[in-house]
Amino acid sequence: MKELIQNLVELTGPSGFEHNVRDFIIDEIKDHVDEYKVDNLGNLIAKKGKKGPKGIRIMLAAHMDEIGVIVTHVDENGFARFHTIGGVMERNCAGGRVRFMNGVGGVIGAEPGGTRQAMPNIPKLYIDTGAKNKAECKVKVGDVGAFERTFMDLGDKFVSKAIDDRIGCAVLIELLKILPDGPNEIYAVFTTQEEVGLRGATTSAYSVDPDLGISIDVTLVGDTPKANFMEVGLGKGPAIKIKDGGMISDPRVVSWMEAAAKRIRIPYQLEILAGGTTDAKSIQISREGVPVGCVSIPCRYVHSPSEMADYTDVKNAIKLFVELLKKPVKLN
Ligand code: CO
Ligand code: ZN
Repeated sequence: MKELIQNLVELTGPSGFEHNVRDFIIDEIKDHVDEYKVDNLGNLIAKKGKKGPKGIRIMLAAHMDEIGVIVTHVDENGFARFHTIGGVMERNCAGGRVRFMNGVGGVIGAEPGGTRQAMPNIPKLYIDTGAKNKAECKVKVGDVGAFERTFMDLGDKFVSKAIDDRIGCAVLIELLKILPDGPNEIYAVFTTQEEVGLRGATTSAYSVDPDLGISIDVTLVGDTPKANFMEVGLGKGPAIKIKDGGMISDPRVVSWMEAAAKRIRIPYQLEILAGGTTDAKSIQISREGVPVGCVSIPCRYVHSPSEMADYTDVKNAIKLFVELLKKPVKLN
């Protein structure tokens, strides 16, 4: 599983440019699903199992995209200005490395000025690809990239960019490999453009038309110095979402998940996230409405080039999903 996680997080795939990630995932899952397709927005939709008499159709969603940058201007000296794709934070930019989809690498520099503590805003930042001048600069307006940072294994924990949400993709891949036949029809959807507004999940939820939706994504934690009050921490189990900034889980789904976690005796946490949301939001309000929930992997430093998560939380999330999906679903 470590190798799978490392392979996934080290791929470059900002929103709208998820094809490398998608190709990798297709290779991983194609022998473990009944069918799969890629839709008009680039979502990878894989189906496993048939709806039995007591079964329902369940959509699982994890997003393939990551936050990134897009070039807006290259000056005469070959320095590229950029806009952000998704929730890139200025404080994580200067000194950061970027890898463009065309393979070109660069470092983010900041104009001088302000105090040493001041956080330069995006217009004061630029990407230096080492080009001599504009003509020789290998990136041009519209080229997109993402942060580059190699995977770091810390034993129980691991650090990388794009744990948001390649870790969700890893959970879904693993699940498709091990999930036994059951009464439910499972649609595992690897979504696009989550970081820019849940766009892939919106269209795929419409086409899948599920009876129940569950997203798997990262969540923030309250266990770092002076963090905001939040009960969730690393290594204390997957988090069952009660509410985030855009979605209130169906309370029946929360109870169903809690009961399953207790049955299989895994640690779990209850999550209330003040801001931010996941693909479950768009599933919930698709068509005539869908009961939804979300299982989160606790993650430190989300949207920085060095996010951190815990292996046991990931393993326990997979166990929880197996328990949830292999049986008839009763919500009450
Ligand atoms: Co995110
Ligand atoms: Zn995410």
